[in-house]
Order: sequence, then structure tokens, then C-alpha cells
Amino acid sequence: MKISNLPIDAPYNEGQRAWLNGFFSGMQAHMSQSAGATLSTDSRVITILFGSQTGSAESVAIDAGAIAKSYGLTPFVKSMDEVEANALASFEYLLIITSTYGEGEMPDNAQLLWDGVSAEGMSSLASVNYSVLALGDTSYDLFCQAGIDWDNRLAELGANRVYERVNCDVDYEEPAQAWMSSVIPLIAGGSGVSNVDADAGATNKPEFNRKNPFPAKLLVNRLLTDASSSKETRHYEISIAGSGLSYEAGDALCVVPTNCPDLVADIINALNCTADQEVTVNSELVVLAEALQNQFEIKTPSKEFIQELAARSGNQELNGILGDKDKLSDYLWGRDTLDLLLQNPTAEFTSAEFVNLLKPLQHRAYSISSSGKQYPETVHLTVASVRYDSFDRNHKGVCSTFLADLVDAETPVRTFFTPNKVFRVPDDNSLPMIMVGPGTGIAPFRAFLQERDFRKASGKNWLFFGDRNAETDYIYRDELEAYQTSGLLTRLDLAFSRDQEAKIYVQDRMIEQGAELFRWLDQGGYFFVCGDAYRMAKDVDQALHAVIATHGDLSDQQAIDYVNQLKKDKRYVRDVY
Ligand SMILES: Cc1cc2nc3c(=O)[nH]c(=O)nc-3n(C[C@H](O)[C@H](O)[C@H](O)COP(=O)(O)OP(=O)(O)OC[C@H]3O[C@@H](n4cnc5c(N)ncnc54)[C@H](O)[C@@H]3O)c2cc1C
Ligand SMILES: NC(=O)c1ccc[n+]([C@@H]2O[C@H](COP(=O)([O-])OP(=O)(O)OC[C@H]3O[C@@H](n4cnc5c(N)ncnc54)[C@H](OP(=O)(O)O)[C@@H]3O)[C@@H](O)[C@H]2O)c1
Ligand SMILES: Cc1cc2nc3c(=O)[nH]c(=O)nc-3n(C[C@H](O)[C@H](O)[C@H](O)COP(=O)(O)O)c2cc1C
Repeated sequence: MKISNLPIDAPYNEGQRAWLNGFFSGMQAHMSQSAGATLSTDSRVITILFGSQTGSAESVAIDAGAIAKSYGLTPFVKSMDEVEANALASFEYLLIITSTYGEGEMPDNAQLLWDGVSAEGMSSLASVNYSVLALGDTSYDLFCQAGIDWDNRLAELGANRVYERVNCDVDYEEPAQAWMSSVIPLIAGGSGVSNVDADAGATNKPEFNRKNPFPAKLLVNRLLTDASSSKETRHYEISIAGSGLSYEAGDALCVVPTNCPDLVADIINALNCTADQEVTVNSELVVLAEALQNQFEIKTPSKEFIQELAARSGNQELNGILGDKDKLSDYLWGRDTLDLLLQNPTAEFTSAEFVNLLKPLQHRAYSISSSGKQYPETVHLTVASVRYDSFDRNHKGVCSTFLADLVDAETPVRTFFTPNKVFRVPDDNSLPMIMVGPGTGIAPFRAFLQERDFRKASGKNWLFFGDRNAETDYIYRDELEAYQTSGLLTRLDLAFSRDQEAKIYVQDRMIEQGAELFRWLDQGGYFFVCGDAYRMAKDVDQALHAVIATHGDLSDQQAIDYVNQLKKDKRYVRDVY
């Protein structure tokens, strides 16, 4: 049978996917049993599994597949949730490409496979040759933890590490490319393939991306919360006319901000430097003010800067807690780079030293709050402006206040899309949708409702929304009430946490409505969650398990199995941050 003509990856439907998985596992098992005897090197199968929340690891995996193909290998690129743990032993050549989420956790699509692989009794992987590429961000305590866990576990199970793991920080492209360029030829080794296409991995890149964002125009910047609210949430409409770009409800738009000029000036003063001093950035001379405004993360202090500052200042309190992540994080709460400079005047830095300790300025992702079908030329965003006072200064989040305060009609907003292929309105218009999105978590659900409206979908829609106070923070109220009146929004359950003494959250409403919620799930309903990853999404997950156990009359383990099946069917998906 000829397997080399199978596509690297394709949007298979469920039936095709099941068939392919079966075929693929059988083929792998057959080939590894007969390795050396019948497996000719130029048809070597390489399995590339990705764990990805927002698409970066997935995009690297697709590139790796293209490069592997150019080396004469037969690549299978798979999301981790498309593979069972017991299939792993049959993968002779395996690349794991995964990001890390939450606090050192697996991305959602990797969790079930990871649970299987890390379970006691997992079979030996002695016939597997593997390497791991880990994507992460050094500003998190558990840098690249998911990749590290995979690497350690595969080795523990007897698999042969053919190439050392590479951990990538936010600018992952170069190290990822270097890893692929080393590990893939190594696996293809001896195949004698000559038609190597070094740029093969570049083929799937959209025209506008991280390195080449589209200069969009901001059309609307409107306050959603009341002026008297304790928070500020804004509605933005950004024109993508003329870009040739399109998007789906569920995707995110990334915005590349610039830093606030006032903060730049204050930092330059604190350093005792001048704005027009030159510094070297990427081998080019740039004026300091320009570098700080456009190229570096100057609000959130980098770990390198904190360590150097502690060493140069002799600050005993700071030096004493450098190794204690909880104490350090408490100390840093509310302190930005400027606070640290101002509070430690004995630590002196030249402009070059300072710049060398900074991380590159990153884009921020925003879940799109419009449907690309209803609004093909504009993208709507729902953004909470980060503003807080601490240490006698006003502090502002870089990107949320760039949009709120700094962008005018003439300022290009540099943007690119990141698709979220699983966070989608179901293809079947008749299936129920349950959406849990407090705060800015409402964003993709506004898009989902527009999408259902556009499609004239008959399926029921249920939104759980909440925020601090109904009077000031009930955003998009008119739209939601109109959807209720029209019947598009079948149910709307609200939880305003600060309208009464005891907090009421969306998960409390879920529990109250548990019987009906379970009925919707049992009718084939989809369960979507968006918003805060650290508290809300965890509590909502717990509430979901409780609802299923109580109203499905299931044991705790059966409720876990029920939820896992929802995840496998992509009927429980999250967009959390
Ligand atoms: C996939 C995805 C989708 C997202 N969708 C949305 C969305 O739809 N809407 C939305 O608003 N955001 C969304 N976000 C979050 C968004 O990307 C940014 O993280 C957010 O706007 C803050 O960025 P910033 O640059 O304004 O703040 P930053 O400059 O990054 O500063 C944020 C930091 O400030 C500190 N901080 C914040 N508040 C306080 C406080 N009260 N006291 C002390 N310190 C504080 C914290 O250290 C925090 O990490 C999403 C994120 C992801 C990953
Ligand atoms: N990881 C992150 O850094 C992160 C995560 C989420 C949001 N944010 C940022 O915070 C800003 C505001 O976010 P937002 O408007 O989306 O939401 P938010 O202001 O954090 O909260 C929205 C609602 O959720 C409630 N809530 C708090 N804890 C909860 C829990 N455990 N379970 C359920 N609900 C809970 C809040 O109640 P109370 O406040 O009254 O308790 C409030 O009513 C944005 O800038 C956003 O980007 C950052
Ligand atoms: C909410 C959130 C939590 C994260 N937690 C971690 C973490 O604990 N450790 C880490 O190294 N990176 C962490 N990251 C960074 C991601 O791993 C990194 O951005 C990665 O490139 C994302 O890849 P993906 O798009 O394939 O998911 C986190 C990112 C977000 C948005």
C-alpha cells in the first residue's frame, strides 16, 4: 500500500479521521514490527504531535511536516487529542511540539493524551525515537514545563531521545527552525534524499503574521462600562479593508502595541540617560527613546533585569526572596520596571546594559467579538483597560491602554490573526450551544451569536455572563436583550458578583440551573468557556463536573469520563487567558 501520497494533514470529517487513525495505527505497527527488513529509509514515517492553545505550536508542527516531506519522509501531523496513548508505542519516529499553559500545564488539546501517557501502567516506548520542541515564555515561573514533562516521561518510558529538547521563549521562530533543521535530517539520515527545500516550512504562512503585521485602522473606540464603573471595558472596531484577510468567529486578533511615551521618558530619566543616546538593537544603532517605545517590554520587568537589579542594588529584601517564587511574585505585584528602578537608585545601568536586560515587546491576543460573516471588513474587540495605582504612580497595561489612549485615526494598529480551529460555532446548526463568558469572556460569544443569527441556525443558545455590578458593567446589554426578544438567545443567566454581600459567580448560576444544563449537554450541546484561566475557568470546570454527576446520576469517575468524552468530541472547548 502506498502511504506517501496521504496529505500531511487535512480537514477530515469524523468518519475519515476515525478511519485514518485506525489505518495509521495499523500501518505504524506493521512498519515498526518489520523495521529494518521492509522499511526502506525513503518511506520513513515520522509522526509530529502538537499541543497548542493558540496555534503557534501547531504552525511549527505544520512547518515541520513540510520540511520532513522535503527530506523524503512521510509526515503525519496530528493534534495530540487525535491520538490515543496506546498508539504511541507504534510511532518509530516521533516529534513532540508543545506549548505550556496555565501555570506550567498542558494546553487543552494535549491534556487527555498526557493523562494517558503519564498514567501508571503505560506501556514501554522502547521502540520510539523522539525529540521535543517546547514553546513557552520565560516570564512564567514554569518555563516550557509541558515540553519538559513530555521529554522526561518519554525517556522514563524507554524512548530514545535522538536530539536534545529545545525550549523556546516568545520569539520562537528561529530556535524552532534550528531544531527542525537539525532533528529532521537526523531522522532522515542515510535516505540519500537530495531535493531538500530549506524554505519548505515557510509555505503555510499567511501574508500577514507576527513578523509582518497588517497596519489596520481603528474606526471605533467606545466605552462599554459606565463612566462610574470600578473598571473600564471598551469596544473597538478595527478595519481590515483592503488586506485580503478574513476571519471566523472564535479566532483572535493579535495587536502589536507601542509603549506609552510618558513611561519611556520616565525610565530614561530614572536611568540618568538621554532620549537621543544610541543603543545597538539586532546589530543596528537605534536611538534609546525609539528602542524603548517600539522594541522592548518596558512595563513588566524581565527575570534577567530583576536579578541584575538585585545584585547591583544590594537590596537585601529582594536578594533574600529571589529563589522563592511565591514571595518574589508577591513582592513584584504592582511594581513595574520603573518602580524597581526608582526604588533601587543605587543600581546603575548604562543604556546598553539596560536594553540588554529587556525582553522584546510582544503582541497581545484578543478574542474577536464579531462574526466575519456579518462584518467581513471589520474586527470587533472587547478589551478591559488595565489601569491601577500602586507605589504612588498610575500604572497602565501596555496594549489595552495603547488601544484606549494612544491610537487615533492616523495611527496604524499592527495586527495579525491567530485562528482557533476548535473554538467554533458547531457546523450542525441544530445543536445547542452553552456559553460561559464573564467579563471580557463575553467577546467570542457575541461573535458566536452573530454567527448563529447570520446562519439562521435553529439550535438553542444559552449564555452565562457576569461582571462586578449590573448597573455599570452589564456590557452589550441592549444587544443581549434584543437577542432574547428575537428568540436567538434562548437563555441568559447573569451573575453580578458585587451587587450583594456574598459573591455570585457564573458557576453558581450553572449549579442552580444544573438539571436544564445537563439536558442541553445530553442533547448533543456544546459547552464553551472564555475569560480568566486561573480562577474562573477552573471553578467552572468543577461546577460542570458537579452538574454532570448530580443530574446525570453519575459517580465522580463517570462524570470525569463524561467530561473527557465532551473534550474528545470537541464539545467542551475553552478560550482562556
Ligand atoms: C487567547 C487570548 C485571548 C484574549 N482575549 C482578550 C479579550 O478578549 N479581552 C481582553 O481584555 N483581554 C484578552 N486577553 C488578554 C490580553 O491579551 C492582554 O493580556 C490584556 O489586554 C493585558 O495586556 P496589557 O498589555 O494591557 O497589560 P500588560 O502590560 O501585559 O500588563 C498586565 C500585567 O499588569 C499587572 N496587573 C494587572 N492588573 C493589576 C493590578 N490591578 N494590580 C497590580 N498589577 C496588575 C499584572 O502583572 C498583569 O500581568 C486575551 C489573551 C489571550 C492569550
Ligand atoms: N491571566 C491574566 O492575567 C488575566 C486573566 C483574566 C483577565 N485578565 C485581565 O483582567 C482584566 C479584566 O478582566 P475581565 O473583565 O475579563 O474579568 P474580571 O474583571 O477579572 O472578572 C469578571 C467577573 O468574574 C468574576 N470572578 C472573579 N473570580 C471568579 C471566579 N473564580 N469564578 C467566576 N467568576 C469570577 C469577577 O468577580 P469579582 O471581581 O467581584 O470577584 C467579575 O464579576 C483584563 O485586562 C484581562 O485581560 C487577566
Ligand atoms: C494564559 C497563559 C498561560 C501561559 N503559561 C505558561 C507557562 O506556565 N509556562 C510557559 O513557559 N509559557 C506559558 N505561556 C506561554 C505560551 O506557552 C506561549 O505563548 C506559546 O508560544 C503559546 O503557544 P501556542 O499558541 O501553541 O499555544 C502561557 C501563555 C498564556 C496565554
